[in-house]
Amino acid sequence: MDSLAQMDALVKEWMHAARTEIIQGFKQKIAVWTKSGRNDLVTNMDRAVEAYYVEKIHTFFPEAVVIGEECHHQQNKYQTSGWVWVIDPIDGTMNFVKQQDHFASMIGVYHNGVGVRGYIFDVMNDDLFWGGPEKGVFCNETSLQPPLDTGLRDGLIGIGMPYLVHNYRNLQQVALASSGVRIYGSAGIQIIHVLQGKCTAYVSYLRPWDFAAGKILAEALNLQVKTIDGCTLDMLSSSDVLVATKNAQKDIQSLVAPAR
Ligand code: IPD
Ligand code: CA
Ligand code: CA
Repeated sequence: MDSLAQMDALVKEWMHAARTEIIQGFKQKIAVWTKSGRNDLVTNMDRAVEAYYVEKIHTFFPEAVVIGEECHHQQNKYQTSGWVWVIDPIDGTMNFVKQQDHFASMIGVYHNGVGVRGYIFDVMNDDLFWGGPEKGVFCNETSLQPPLDTGLRDGLIGIGMPYLVHNYRNLQQVALASSGVRIYGSAGIQIIHVLQGKCTAYVSYLRPWDFAAGKILAEALNLQVKTIDGCTLDMLSSSDVLVATKNAQKDIQSLVAPAR
């Protein structure tokens, strides 16, 4: 087994173990705390899953630097050189708390700033999307084909709720030009929909752990992952992020208002 195949086997094992813990955890009371505001939540399960992944990564990949949403992201320690693992233990924590559904667990692995492996686990559907540049993308053991290059007009678009409500960069016009808007409250779940061709684009303000895994998977399927202006993303910074087919990206860029 080559080293990337070993990595795949290990990460799949960890994510399935985390899933078992998460589902068991639903039988107990979930402890919830707010972070930057009343809708920015963290739970005991976010922290436990992140700590579990970090411990496993340090055991099996001692040279790795880990950037985790909940406790391992001191800004001054961010780096892109060497092996960098970016973790979002539960993406869509609000859904996790309110719905016990529609959330993901995500890991992105980079080497010297280049994406190597992305893993997005749709926990409640038990669907693990994984892969990388030389491997392609799989849902569990089924290979995914690149989605059709659908334009904005003929596809659904995912838009982060604040961006749509506040009409960021004219996104309400973009929404009206599409076949419809879908808002699920988890960047991971929304990106999965673009990978599968269920949506033609997703745009939101995202932080590194929100897009690290999705960027690798989407690019492996010939999708565009850029800022809304078509600039290359900095994997250590937060910004607007657009994941889209090539045609939808062109259509969206022609409609967005210039940055103020
Ligand atoms: C959030 C979700 C949400 C997105 C936010 C993210 P979290 O992640 O992905 O859909 O709009 O920007 O912060 O905090 O639940 O991991
Ligand atoms: Ca997230
Ligand atoms: Ca999270």
